[in-house]
Amino acid sequence: MCGIVAYIGNKQAYPFLIKGLQRLEYRGYDSAGIALIDNGELNVYKCKGKVADLHNFVGNNNKGGTIGIGHTRWATHGVPNDVNAHPHYSASKNIVMIHNGIIENYGPLKEELKKRGHVFLSDTDTEVLIHLIEDIQQKEKVRLGEAVRIALNQVVGAYAIVILSKENPNELFAAKKGSPMVIGIGDNEFYIASDATPIIEYTKNVVYLEDEEIAYIERGKDLKIKTIKNKSKTPYVQELEMQLEALEKGGYEHFMLKEIYEQPRSIKDCMRGRLSSEKGSLNLGGIADYEQKIVNAKRIIFIACGTSWHAALVAEYLFEELTRIPVEVEYASEFRYRNPIIYENDIVVAISQSGETADTLAAIELAKSKGATIIGICNVIGSSIARATHAGAYTHAGPEIGVASTKAFTAQVTVITLMALQIAYRKGTISATRFHELLVELEAIPEKVERVLKTNEKIKHIADIYKNVSNALYLGRGNSFPVALEGALKLKEISYIHAEGYPAAEMKHGPIALIDEEMPVFVIATKGNSYEKVVSNIQEVKARKGKIIAIVTEGDVQVKAMADYTIEIPETDEILVPLISVVPLQLLSYHIAVMRGCNVDQPRNLAKSVTVE
Ligand code: AGP
Repeated sequence: MCGIVAYIGNKQAYPFLIKGLQRLEYRGYDSAGIALIDNGELNVYKCKGKVADLHNFVGNNNKGGTIGIGHTRWATHGVPNDVNAHPHYSASKNIVMIHNGIIENYGPLKEELKKRGHVFLSDTDTEVLIHLIEDIQQKEKVRLGEAVRIALNQVVGAYAIVILSKENPNELFAAKKGSPMVIGIGDNEFYIASDATPIIEYTKNVVYLEDEEIAYIERGKDLKIKTIKNKSKTPYVQELEMQLEALEKGGYEHFMLKEIYEQPRSIKDCMRGRLSSEKGSLNLGGIADYEQKIVNAKRIIFIACGTSWHAALVAEYLFEELTRIPVEVEYASEFRYRNPIIYENDIVVAISQSGETADTLAAIELAKSKGATIIGICNVIGSSIARATHAGAYTHAGPEIGVASTKAFTAQVTVITLMALQIAYRKGTISATRFHELLVELEAIPEKVERVLKTNEKIKHIADIYKNVSNALYLGRGNSFPVALEGALKLKEISYIHAEGYPAAEMKHGPIALIDEEMPVFVIATKGNSYEKVVSNIQEVKARKGKIIAIVTEGDVQVKAMADYTIEIPETDEILVPLISVVPLQLLSYHIAVMRGCNVDQPRNLAKSVTVE
């Protein structure tokens, strides 16, 4: 996710642009840039770092002009640096563009443009698109607005773009598909942004651009909208009701809830450009150079902390099931100090949302010093851990602001699943049929998560019943055991209730002594190989008056008859269940924490990224 802003009107543009970017920093903050036209001059300022760094970088340079665009980046293609920061220039350097989204077919487009003599300065997909637009304008001899429309018909992927041309100082072109864009209508002025937060203090009259629409915004004229198929659309002007604070959270009460609800999109973004069940193709480009090494590996060691360590546990089930490569999972903090045995042909996979966790970084350096190959699964492009690895795959979940990790976990598990599938297919430890079957099932996950989110009210009702307990147990078998651990971590870290996750079969080895009528036991009892065994575990708890809240597969009858409460989730392949079963547990912990008056986004004693030992 990136943040985009633009302005055209009768005031100075810079104040709106720089303040608007600050409002949008929650969407991305690894680099930023601004372009302004003043007295015929196109002035572009961009640099790595936050918006404040950009403001200092602009300094006393000319920031005049009543038309401009601005961008705060969350890198997807190309590490965060000055060159990859937006705005990006066209070949002639007379046109600049800002972009939020992913152009999936930028590779072939770039190759084609290179053949036509185009030279690219950055590694971004954005630069390819603005070069394509100008190339069309010159080749087809059409106006810039028409060149934008023609180019967007060639693009596959998501975009929210704004284009500024030195030759057209009285006009902006904006377009969107799959990424958000709002246009504020002022008095003879227009404000554009990724959401309404930068706009609301100037005007409450907004137009939400729809997918595949282009806005032609000309000084002193009414807003004009066309589709990329050249069909005119009447702008639908709405009046904003939300206040600024609510807007930053997308209308949700907390960032954590917003991020839980973002999961259908973030899981989809994780797969975007990597998986196509239609073509039966799967490609994690970031591990291509090391794929054979992983295929030949005698052992894979996953290292991580916290929620990422739970994702690593899911990886153990996935990789051993699909690739038959032995897997070990290590707490990074333990691994780095216990003088572990590491072989040169070991593959070490480091999982980290922030990419800055000190223990994980130290564990990587230790493994690297012993000759192991390090693969990274990070969410922050260009983060310390990402840069310390030999190869890897980003999770593309967008910034995760809530301290309690939610969408990062499901994005990590998605990337792990893609990686295991790719390796298994290359190794031949999975049939083509099974491979394709799982691709189809994976593509259906976002819609199934969407369906689980619709059970929120029921989950809130259950939260209300158990909000005052002092302890809780979470049980699961197989790849649901890591989900039980994750559910327990969510509850304890935001509601401060003591919670433990256990393999369901472990109950009889001690924890069952804890069961009484006060103890809620959350059980993942979805359809699968160990379903009957989980049913027996539930019976053991019920026999001791324990309370059972079970996550079951839609249509379940047997557990429903036994449990105090059940939450139904859509059926999916057993190895993909963690992607769905974790969502009710995220919502449950969220609602309990809110009902207990806890600070959900910044729980006590916790930091979003543990960059110290
Ligand atoms: C999880 O909700 C916590 N925020 C914490 O356990 C976190 O997962 C852990 O600190 C690891 O962080 P990382 O993924 O950024 O390395």
